[in-house]
Amino acid sequence: MHEGSLLGAIAREMPTGVVVLDSDGRILYANPSFLKSFFENGDVEEVVGRDLGTLISDAALLSAVDGFLKGNGGDRPSAGEIEVNEKNRCFKIRMVPAEDGDCFALMLFLQDITEEKMVEAIKKDFVANVSHELRTPLASIKGYSETLLDGGMDDKDTLRDFLKVIDKHATRMSRLIEDLLVLSRLESNQMPMVSEPIDISEVVRSITDGFRKQARDRGIELSMRIEDDVAGVLADRVRIEQVMVNLLDNAIKYTPSGGKVDVIVTADDGCVRVDVKDTGIGIPAPDIPRIFERFYRVDKARSRDLGGTGLGLAIVKHIIQGLNGKVWVESSLSEGSTFSFTLKSAAERV
Ligand SMILES: Nc1ncnc2c1ncn2[C@@H]1O[C@H](COP(=O)(O)OP(=O)(O)O)[C@@H](O)[C@H]1O
Ligand SMILES: [Mg+2]
Repeated sequence: MHEGSLLGAIAREMPTGVVVLDSDGRILYANPSFLKSFFENGDVEEVVGRDLGTLISDAALLSAVDGFLKGNGGDRPSAGEIEVNEKNRCFKIRMVPAEDGDCFALMLFLQDITEEKMVEAIKKDFVANVSHELRTPLASIKGYSETLLDGGMDDKDTLRDFLKVIDKHATRMSRLIEDLLVLSRLESNQMPMVSEPIDISEVVRSITDGFRKQARDRGIELSMRIEDDVAGVLADRVRIEQVMVNLLDNAIKYTPSGGKVDVIVTADDGCVRVDVKDTGIGIPAPDIPRIFERFYRVDKARSRDLGGTGLGLAIVKHIIQGLNGKVWVESSLSEGSTFSFTLKSAAERV
């Protein structure tokens, strides 16, 4: 293969956008990746001869490009890099001049770093959230213990009350750390999901039974309906138990006394479907799309007050998706919510 055609093929196939400008800033060449991002997949012929500024409007980039074109000889930078937001995406652009005698060209390499930026932002957000969530109970623990040490403990009633508050906040912190560890293990694949045939009806039954006392204490009627001959699923028993605990805990927590929680297991088109249905406070429609995000809560104060960490549903989603299942919620404000998930029946798998 000729070197020229080889280089042409590389430029055509590479995921990085490439555009080459002449000394007047007009386009000499653009590869398909560049055209895809900035010229709606149009033809290279239509773009050749046009000014870069007709395709990209970012002022910082155009002025950097200008610097390369205007500079000559010694004062021309040897290369440069710039980050540009354009068309709702973020690009890292590397500019490299190429000189051959009197001929001058400026090559631009555009790498789409939108996803990287997003992951970075999510990580930063997560760290900020974790710090905040830990700082709040810690500040309370410190405040109350200082008051006790400053003489508050001489009074027996104050002592007991304050210790109760301290205990509540310490419990919250340890629950948060527990949930964080679960999430991090799930994400790092340190604890790979086991895929073994399990009797899902039995798992659902045993976890639901474990919530009977809690439901009774809160004046909630807890019922269970399991269809006959629901097939088993291939799943991780411990993880499914965790999913059920998180969903039932929420259903009971967010349902006022006098309400109902129903757990329903049915066979559904080669899948087993589990619904956890409550007649509770419901979720406002604008919050529904974000409800499975880490730390997302409709009412932070209420969730904290009820001992929540804001991580329960994120863990649920992680587990069900890790088992190739689906999880979703339907909810109406003040009427109730139904959290559902499906998993493929063991019989359906080869
Ligand atoms: N059954 C439910 N009814 C109403 N709101 C719910 C229900 N389940 C979850 N939510 C909402 O979703 C949020 C996130 O749930 P979750 O991740 O389990 O966190 P937590 O329960 O610790 O607050 C809750 O704070 C609450 O606002
Ligand atoms: Mg929860």
